[in-house]
Amino acid sequence: MDKSQKAKKKIRIIGNVFRVILTIIMVIGIIVMASTALMGITILFIPADILPEDLNAGFTDFIAGVHSSSDDDDEDDDYSPILSDTESATPVITNSEDAEAYFKKMIKELIGSIGNGRVASGIEIGLSTAGVRKELTIKELIVILSIAISLFSLMIVIYSSVLNSMMKTLSKGERPFTIKAAKKLRRLSILMLLLILFEPLTSLVLFSVTLIFSYLFEYGAYLQEKADETSRIQEEMIMSFAEVTENKSEQTGKHVRRVAEYSKIIAEEMGLDEERVSKIRLASTMHDIGKLMIPSEILEKPARLTDDEFAEIKKHPGYGGKLLNNVEGDVMELAKTIALDHHERVDGRGYPEGKSGNYISTEGRIVAVADVYDALTSKRSYKEPWDHQKAYEEILKGSGTQFDADVVEAFKKRYDDINSLRQKYADEA
Ligand SMILES: [Fe+2]
Ligand SMILES: [Fe+2]
Repeated sequence: MDKSQKAKKKIRIIGNVFRVILTIIMVIGIIVMASTALMGITILFIPADILPEDLNAGFTDFIAGVHSSSDDDDEDDDYSPILSDTESATPVITNSEDAEAYFKKMIKELIGSIGNGRVASGIEIGLSTAGVRKELTIKELIVILSIAISLFSLMIVIYSSVLNSMMKTLSKGERPFTIKAAKKLRRLSILMLLLILFEPLTSLVLFSVTLIFSYLFEYGAYLQEKADETSRIQEEMIMSFAEVTENKSEQTGKHVRRVAEYSKIIAEEMGLDEERVSKIRLASTMHDIGKLMIPSEILEKPARLTDDEFAEIKKHPGYGGKLLNNVEGDVMELAKTIALDHHERVDGRGYPEGKSGNYISTEGRIVAVADVYDALTSKRSYKEPWDHQKAYEEILKGSGTQFDADVVEAFKKRYDDINSLRQKYADEA
């Protein structure tokens, strides 16, 4: 497992942990949202006469109720310490009415403390300006509280679902930095700003963080595009480099392209991740780079090779390994592995080293199938192209001896795609 795969695995694990947490938050958010909304709506529409009387009372009425029951009706302001406005007032609870009053006061404080007290007092100011009444009833306060909690939960659900979809992108190994993601975040930041009605501080913090992230994502997308361009140029250079090799031998440049595409299809079918698949596609183009070191007379000899000549040809994987030895980068590293391994056989009878089974790299085993299939179906100086069906059967016959059985299985499953690519990139007659 190379460095980038390890990093990817870590990202995948972290991403999945976050997704689980976000999903839990989402589910809790949905439950809270639905239940508070239901509670608010129920209380709002229940006929007043069914509700407990206190809920229909304004807070002052309620206070007055406690006051009159305590048999002291001359003063309005000093009847009980629980009605004190100071936060630190310790309630003196001497009877059940006091306890009830204290509970009601808590409701009002709770409503005020989560921020929608602003909405409540706004409505109260409106009502008293219009001369209707001075304050909201407990029922109305509870309705406002329910709606506020419900809306707040909705925001959290939206926020966590957007984050969840981003985590999904990350853990699938796709690119997180896209213009689309940046736009999504920007829309989300505006949504966060709406929370200002309920919680100005939270709202502003969420708004700023989300906005900053949206710009970071946009910048990331820009950098990604630049990197893509560089790798496109690199890809073209590698392709042309590989074509030079193939043109040196009697094969056409299309051999390189076909082997690359076949290898890609097989790797995909074997379930390798996207990045590894695209690396195989590119690195496989250099599998025969060592042929640059083999004299053209041997490579292009129209007749059967002598034993010595064949021994020379067999050196091309080793030459390729040497040529690519000091080149840096993941793709080049893999190209070296493929150059060295593409003529090995799983039964150990291949060359140059006679490696067997899993000692041969997965990529080497894949390219071996792609390379032989293409060699069989192409014209060579010493042979005519085989019929594709015959070549297909030849590959299946080599399963478990010349070729890796899993690779052959993948080749078999995707043969239709491979065959249509063969026609698409056919050599000109
Ligand atoms: Fe080769
Ligand atoms: Fe080849």
